[in-house]
Amino acid sequence: MADLKLSETRDLTRIERIGAHSHIRGLGLDSALEPRAVSEGMVGQTSARKAAGVILQMIKEGRIAGRAVLIAGQPGTGKTAIAMGMAKSLGLETPFAMISASEIFSLEMSKTEALMQSFRKAIGVRIKEETEVIEGEVVEVQIDRPAVAGAALKTGKLTMKTTEMEGVYDLGAKMIESLGKEKVQSGDVIAIDKPSGKVTKLGRSFSRSRDYDAIGPQVRFVQCPDGELQKRKEIVHCVTLHEIDVINSRTQGFLALFTGDTGEIRAEGVLFIDEVHMLDIECFSFLNRALENEMAPIVVVATNRGITTIRGTNYKSPHGIPIDLLDRLLIITTQPYTKDDIGKILDIRCQEEDVEMAEEAKALLTHIGVETSLRYAIHLITAAALACQKRKGKVVENEDITRVYNLFLDVKRSTQYLMEYQEQYMFSEASIGDGDEDGTNAMLS
Ligand SMILES: Nc1ncnc2c1ncn2[C@@H]1O[C@H](COP(=O)(O)OP(=O)(O)O)[C@@H](O)[C@H]1O
Ligand SMILES: [Mg+2]
Repeated sequence: MADLKLSETRDLTRIERIGAHSHIRGLGLDSALEPRAVSEGMVGQTSARKAAGVILQMIKEGRIAGRAVLIAGQPGTGKTAIAMGMAKSLGLETPFAMISASEIFSLEMSKTEALMQSFRKAIGVRIKEETEVIEGEVVEVQIDRPAVAGAALKTGKLTMKTTEMEGVYDLGAKMIESLGKEKVQSGDVIAIDKPSGKVTKLGRSFSRSRDYDAIGPQVRFVQCPDGELQKRKEIVHCVTLHEIDVINSRTQGFLALFTGDTGEIRAEGVLFIDEVHMLDIECFSFLNRALENEMAPIVVVATNRGITTIRGTNYKSPHGIPIDLLDRLLIITTQPYTKDDIGKILDIRCQEEDVEMAEEAKALLTHIGVETSLRYAIHLITAAALACQKRKGKVVENEDITRVYNLFLDVKRSTQYLMEYQEQYMFSEASIGDGDEDGTNAMLS
């Protein structure tokens, strides 16, 4: 029941918004890990997707700790999208923590502490427990009223049955309280966790389905359990180490996690660090050591940098990552998209954003995507749809695309504009592109 409630609230509070990667629903691989051309929102980038699938398989088997993967490639080639695809195909059971490297510099704790915390968010612990439960249909709850009002503690009796047997249990004050809290009455099928005394209402017995008129539609009917009243049951919880830390910081919290004998503990999970070149040398050495821990999650990092300075040093290194760490990484590269792939991704985005676009307009937008960037073209979809709406059209046409193309500049045109008019801006230096081989460093330094 507790679990049931949780999923209900989750459904209620979820707001569906369209984000940059909301069309990605997985990696789009078949059971042999071969990438399908267009599947689960994924297009092209086949070798990177396949490699990511192999990593996923390793994670699912849960035997390997401390592997790290680098996704390297130019901006907008789907690095983050692939990481999202991995997260989606792992499902909710496996923790997937996602951070951008620069986040750790802005928290109110030291950067290594922040990194440690993200590690712990990505380590899931599967706790398998066997506990004794009493499970059956309530025949009667009988509470003895104390002779003098408000005097001694309440006592009572609970009669429960299965299809095969019936049993009577003595109730203490605590049990009476928890039965009251769950509003247990005869005809309910309940489970009582013996060690903790926790009462879970499983539903109402089918035999009582015609008893009352006033039963709401949310009442769930279940079969009266069979077999013994008292059973050993295996339950599995999955919690992250970070959750345990949080619970642990409250009094009595930690013990609540482990009631019976604790069985298997298995670590698993993924930590994704985007824009990893923003980590500095101290963080990189922290990573080196952390990866050697047998509880370490699979770490996936991504960067779009070429050979550049390692933050915190004067040394240069491929991707801005020290060689000793690079050596531990399995490297996946993403390739620039072909015109065909860009067209398909834009098509998927149009569907995702519920925008109807004429074939001709799609071709124009694809052309823009090839000449500028995939991201810019994706952004134009929404804008063009608005332009279309404004002229009371139903389908986005060439004119809408042209209109927003002229309204919003892409990076190339914006830079060109700056070059032409730079004297009129503050702090301008005509050095973009020359001197620094990285180009981006002009803005960073
Ligand atoms: N192979 C792909 N299939 C579908 N959509 C993609 C693919 N690659 C990138 N995209 C989408 O294109 C946009 C840019 O990709 P992104 O993953 O952010 O690039 P990167 O992280 O490499 O800079 C995102 O909206 C992303 O979801
Ligand atoms: Mg990215």
